[in-house]
Amino acid sequence: MSEGKRVTTKVSAEEINRQYKYIEDIKQYNQDIAMKAGKAARYSIETFGCQMNENDSERLAGMLCEMGYSECEVRSDSDLIIFNTCCVRENAEQKVYGHLGALKRLKDTNSKLIIAVCGCMMQQPEVVAHITKTYRHVDIIFGTHNLYKLPELLNTVITTGKTVTDVWDSTGSIAENMPISRKEKIKAWVTVMYGCNNFCSYCIVPYVRGRERSRSLDEIRKEVGELAKEGCKEITLLGQNVNSYGKDLEGDFTFARLLRELDKIEGIERIRFMTSHPKDLSEDLIYAIRDCSKVCEHLHLPVQSGSSKILEDMNRKYTKEKYLGLIDKVKEQIPDIGLTTDIIVGFPGESEEDFRETLEVVSKAEYDMAYTFLYSKRTGTPAAKNPNQVSEDVMKDRFERLLELQNSISLRINNNLLGEEVEVLVEGLSKNSDTTYTGRTRQNKIVNFKGSPDLVGKLVKVKVDTIQTWSLKGRLVQ
Ligand code: SAH
Ligand code: SF4
Ligand code: F3S
Repeated sequence: MSEGKRVTTKVSAEEINRQYKYIEDIKQYNQDIAMKAGKAARYSIETFGCQMNENDSERLAGMLCEMGYSECEVRSDSDLIIFNTCCVRENAEQKVYGHLGALKRLKDTNSKLIIAVCGCMMQQPEVVAHITKTYRHVDIIFGTHNLYKLPELLNTVITTGKTVTDVWDSTGSIAENMPISRKEKIKAWVTVMYGCNNFCSYCIVPYVRGRERSRSLDEIRKEVGELAKEGCKEITLLGQNVNSYGKDLEGDFTFARLLRELDKIEGIERIRFMTSHPKDLSEDLIYAIRDCSKVCEHLHLPVQSGSSKILEDMNRKYTKEKYLGLIDKVKEQIPDIGLTTDIIVGFPGESEEDFRETLEVVSKAEYDMAYTFLYSKRTGTPAAKNPNQVSEDVMKDRFERLLELQNSISLRINNNLLGEEVEVLVEGLSKNSDTTYTGRTRQNKIVNFKGSPDLVGKLVKVKVDTIQTWSLKGRLVQ
């Protein structure tokens, strides 16, 4: 091991056992209440933000189920409400404040209601100060690093009636062996690493999620093996930058190796992953995607901007040419790859010329889909101090132009699939329908078709007969 290398550790078994003890105490408490009230205590969790947060919420749900809570879809019928928050853009934060304000009325009519807020927003001291002062109906505030402590925090509120705030600055540890309750059975999120070391100049994530920490290969293998036994068919490996997987582990662990190991697990049909940072997308990883039969032909490779100058200011550590070179290499090795990206419009200092370079990259890369964002100023990040902020009008105009270009490309790519047979993993009924089923291709395209319940969880062939910008329609091939 090289000197100065940080090594990720696990939260001690003793600490995990302590949480299990609180789980037992609260379970007992909930049973007593249920006997008197004639119904079980209920929770609702609302998740803002990315898939990592969704996965964290599944952990919160797992702990709550063990404590005897049952899930409740209706906020106003819940005994415990948790908001798992996001702060990546300002509108994500505004949404949380709006919802929090609305809870005041519920608390006024039900003094027993417990309200908890956690997640990325809580890692900012000014947010905690604001909530403590303005939203006094909140009972528990905790952060991203001590999610596993929910049982203890809940127990404190139940036994003392006091408000609890517990947010940690950082952690080098990962809590394993805590319960998890997933909403979906066919597909599952599996977090393989936490945190981010990249400090892109616009981004708040490294400040609120801490440094990169990888889970051990054995733990991940164990989790995926269990999922396979439970009937799960598709896993999506999650990390802010999965390409850095293993750098903090002792031994020779890389993301490519992780894919090769997980590819061997029987029962799993498909493996996806996100997000890859272009600066360290290795050739070995491209080969692993090409060679592993379960690893899907889909790569989410956020470009953020097409201008090398802006990329430098963003601290992305690649140029436009290097990025396009990577795309060429990927397409050469995996010709049927589905490509998606993230793009920020209106980063400080972005000129019309810079923006045109973004349009040029979008045309050349030919993404199947792009997630486009208006730049949002995040206090504490270097870009927020940049005096050359782009005006809202200019930003919105560029955003529209980008969307128009990308939509035409998405439609053109989808058109190539007209009349083709595609392999679809059937996920379930499509929204608002009793007969239309939905699933995805290996390239991650949504396909809708007439089907039957027995197909859920199966791989089927569908012949594409209708093209839309965001999805395809087709007929089952018997
Ligand atoms: N770790 C991933 C994504 C993290 S956040 C990656 O590096 O790609 C998801 C997306 O939000 C980013 O890719 C970026 O496009 C966008 N984003 C992050 N900070 C932002 C900000 N301040 N304003 C607008 N978009 C932002
Ligand atoms: Fe944010 Fe960059 Fe890290 Fe992604 S890689 S989470 S954009 S700092
Ligand atoms: Fe948001 Fe935190 Fe994810 S800031 S995007 S929920 S890592």
